[in-house]
Amino acid sequence: MIGVFDSGSGGLTILQALQKSMPDQDFLYFGDHKNAPYGHRQNDQIVELTRTGVEHLMQNGCKLVILACNTAAAIALRSLQQNWLEEAFPGNRILGVLVPMVEAITGVDWASSTPDTSISDEILLFATRKTVSSGAYREEVAKRAPNIKLIEKACPGLVDAIEGGAGKAPISGMISGYVSELGPTNASAAVLGCTHFPIVESQFRSALGPETKIVSQPDVVAASLRDYLIRHPDFASKGQGSTRYLTTGDAVHVTKISRAFCGDNGTFVSVGAV
Ligand code: DGL
Repeated sequence: MIGVFDSGSGGLTILQALQKSMPDQDFLYFGDHKNAPYGHRQNDQIVELTRTGVEHLMQNGCKLVILACNTAAAIALRSLQQNWLEEAFPGNRILGVLVPMVEAITGVDWASSTPDTSISDEILLFATRKTVSSGAYREEVAKRAPNIKLIEKACPGLVDAIEGGAGKAPISGMISGYVSELGPTNASAAVLGCTHFPIVESQFRSALGPETKIVSQPDVVAASLRDYLIRHPDFASKGQGSTRYLTTGDAVHVTKISRAFCGDNGTFVSVGAV
């Protein structure tokens, strides 16, 4: 069984792409709705909350956990890999969304030690304030493709608006605001670096205009995991394509909002019930 961790329901956008791309895998989804959003929490809190969620997934049989949440991946992944995982769950793995996204942005393999200076481009990154201030995307892109100018834009309030079920018009207004605050750019592509943002991709599309390509994080992450499982078959679940959904929040409410905002038909149960 493969674990998928997110601060809330946004990770369902990633989960849906994983299910579609790997229909024979079993997944266990964990949404930390009680503590969401992570985007304005302190780093040590994000590390501890992420550790707790991953621990729960691993205690329930996941040898591999995907941190779908960009904020958790940017702030907590390295610390958990280096300081906790091997001692707590030897042989298990945690993967984040940053690696495949940086590879998709730069076209350079994560493990490559040679930067590619031939690529020069402007790319937009929309993310939570925390992901932007972590500098994680910026640093990793610069190491691999120093001539790519990554223009980052924090979108404060957008996660809350999406989870809170704000209507199309106010969300479009917020997104147009973020885009116009950037001013004119020559960006060829935009990355929606937050699991919630694909839900409002059409509003980003309208605000950005047709000439800016949107890089689909769910598709990139799914392709990357598929490839990883081919290379590391021990982490594949050999299952029947089932998914279970856990939340730290109110399971009935979370099931309802998840259906409403991304059409996911999963029924959440409270982590206390597992
Ligand atoms: N899921 C988070 C991400 O991808 C955003 C939500 C939050 O701030 O908790 O960054």
